[in-house]
Amino acid sequence: MKKLSLILAAALMCASLAACSSGTSSSSAAASGSETASASTSSEATTDDTSSGGTLIMGTNAAFPPYEYYENDEIVGIDADIARALGEKLGKDVTIEDMDFNSLITAVQTGKIDMVLAGMTVTPDREENVSFTDSYATGIQSIIVTEDSEIASPDDLGGHKIGVQESTTGHIYCSDDYGEDSVIAYTTGANAVEALKTGKVDAVVIDNEPAKAFVEANEGLKILDTEYAVEDYAIAVAKENTELLDQLNTALAELKEDGTIQSIIDKYITAE
Ligand code: ARG
Repeated sequence: MKKLSLILAAALMCASLAACSSGTSSSSAAASGSETASASTSSEATTDDTSSGGTLIMGTNAAFPPYEYYENDEIVGIDADIARALGEKLGKDVTIEDMDFNSLITAVQTGKIDMVLAGMTVTPDREENVSFTDSYATGIQSIIVTEDSEIASPDDLGGHKIGVQESTTGHIYCSDDYGEDSVIAYTTGANAVEALKTGKVDAVVIDNEPAKAFVEANEGLKILDTEYAVEDYAIAVAKENTELLDQLNTALAELKEDGTIQSIIDKYITAE
């Protein structure tokens, strides 16, 4: 019930956010990152480049452990591994482009990248702009606070400053539930967590696995037991790229069936 109303609310919020971000997409270029996996080929990320052979360009925002993050100079994580496994199935090399989270939808729509793997949640509003494959993982929006915080559940968030990563579902839900004035959006989750540590915000709403990674890496923080929202992660492709969508869904089904997806998840997430 909660989830449904959140999703509906998200749909409404997204409409306005999407409108804003498409008008200001260039402003985020400064913060966008590097490329990995030496894209030495001249392969264009045309959306019809889906025949066997060639390269698949995955777009992501590599500040989201354990789904995507830097280890030395390489982007690693669940999404990177799944993309490579999919590439193997489809006979394609995979290169990874790192960019701001809020540039990903436009990048896939315009063919700059072929697919988004970024712990991206399926939402009705995003579905108006891109196609999603079947889901490959579940995410939960969690709340991080300082250990001494008086905030004990989502109900206590009202009247507090909440830090989020820009354009994520956490951003959308919190703006809707607590009002835009209560929410401060940061380019990365790590920046939001930094703001929590320095008292600029009172809580951070972010996906549960990155939340765990951030809390582990920073003293004095904890995750509240209450889940704020439960969501599905999937791969986004351009609407017109139905061939790639079908290929990815077939490959994904095979990788689920033979246990590859689960073993990739188990490699990065230890069961509690
Ligand atoms: N699941 C959330 C969303 O889709 C957050 C994803 C953020 N991903 C990232 N790679 N920074 O909005």
